[in-house]
Amino acid sequence: MAISHAAAAPSARQLAGLNDLFVAQGKLFWGNIADSNTLSISQNEAILASEFGAVTPENSMKWDSTEPSQNSFSYTGSDAVVDWANANGKQVRGHTLVWHSQLPSWVSSIGDAATLTSVIQNHISNLAGRYAGQLYGMRWDVCNEILNEDGSLRSSVFYNVLGQDFVTIAFEAARAADSTAKLYINDYNLDSNNAKVQGMVSLVNSINAGGNYIDGIGTQTHLSAGGSSGVAAAIAALASTGCEVAVTELDIASAPAADYVAVAQACLDEPLCVSITTWGVSDANSWRSGESPLLFDSSYNPKAAYTAVVDMLS
Ligand code: G3I
Repeated sequence: MAISHAAAAPSARQLAGLNDLFVAQGKLFWGNIADSNTLSISQNEAILASEFGAVTPENSMKWDSTEPSQNSFSYTGSDAVVDWANANGKQVRGHTLVWHSQLPSWVSSIGDAATLTSVIQNHISNLAGRYAGQLYGMRWDVCNEILNEDGSLRSSVFYNVLGQDFVTIAFEAARAADSTAKLYINDYNLDSNNAKVQGMVSLVNSINAGGNYIDGIGTQTHLSAGGSSGVAAAIAALASTGCEVAVTELDIASAPAADYVAVAQACLDEPLCVSITTWGVSDANSWRSGESPLLFDSSYNPKAAYTAVVDMLS
């Protein structure tokens, strides 16, 4: 009989409580995403409950889900995530209040500054107001993906109609709606100390010079394999603003253990880095179909990157 020397695949029974290990190192949480479609998968839900300390609604808090037509709000999907979080003792990252994508056409067609201002204020007042005070440690991605790669502000209905003022309008409305939530600006390709990171630092510093607006900077951290080498420098640059920093949407093509460990270490090494959120539990449900970028394979078994991160944190 042939003897197999292959290492046994780790089983669900060998899970170590990734969030607990990260919290033991002084961080707030290692979170993940949730929505009704993935909460209804029992293996996915069990891993969320045992391994992760917070949830970000993957889609259900976006504008097209929550206010598909003007002043007509729909909270079925977002309530499901918040209710699950409350029932399971998880924190929530609200995602997202102002984003040019998944934005209904009735918003993107507004051309008048006064109208757009009141539409932003009404959206944020209703959505952020709905969950204010309900959740411990609430955080909101107030503005999402508003920068170009060169660090300038992206063309969008918000910027084109209101200029940079849309940022302070949104943060003021969020602060008014939920005075205890930490308010974030969130973006992608902040993965090395590049022009976009420099633009983010300049924008946050200039806005916060005018008042109490931005509490945190989210770096999505959608990486390619081998793409982690600049992450520590980027996090340090973002933290130079004095804001807290969070890795908000981590996934890495083919999930190399070394890259996952490097990102976790970069957050551990920066006192202002408070949390990591991976953008999906299992490869079966990743938006990066075919790239296997997550910590659990498509059968919900922990991968080498999971074991490596757990070993590093243990
Ligand atoms: O809800 C509709 C459904 O009614 C319809 O039948 C179906 C047909 O395709 O589409 C459904 O909408 C999809 C939605 O996810 C909900 O499942 C959209 O097509 C699909 O484009 C959308 O993708 C999401 C994407 O954001 C949209 O931009 C991904 O699930 C989500 O993971 C992804 O998340 C974003 C973050 O919010 C921001 N940063 C980047 C990140 C990855 O793209």
